[in-house]
Amino acid sequence: MQIVYSVLLMALIAFVYSDAHAADTQAGRAAAQKCVQCHEADDWEGEDAASLESLIKDIVAGKVKHRTKIDLTPAEIANIAAYWGSGGR
Ligand code: HEC
Repeated sequence: MQIVYSVLLMALIAFVYSDAHAADTQAGRAAAQKCVQCHEADDWEGEDAASLESLIKDIVAGKVKHRTKIDLTPAEIANIAAYWGSGGR
């Protein structure tokens, strides 16, 4: 019985995790509407979401030069990074 519970627990964790990830990229798609005027979602395809996130953070903080001033909440930054990092899928 123990093993059945472990398998169920792992399936549940995998489900919750994948669902949370989908929500992130969906929210990222919405937040990235602020950027589509100049950027395609797949410009950064294959880029690691974590490094993309820190790059966007630095732009928002004014540490990295960017064409326009961008204003995003930390959650929006993470979601856009997840969305762009997945190539817009
Ligand atoms: C008015 C046009 C414009 C808008 C809007 C815009 N960008 Fe950019 N962005 C640029 C240009 C131009 C560059 C430099 C050339 C390039 O990498 O495409 C750039 C570069 C970047 C880079 C790479 C910076 C680097 O040093 O490698 C990131 C990341 C980025 N933009 C994020 C964003 C995000 C996030 C948004 C939306 C919140 C956004 N941009 C909106 C024009 C824009």
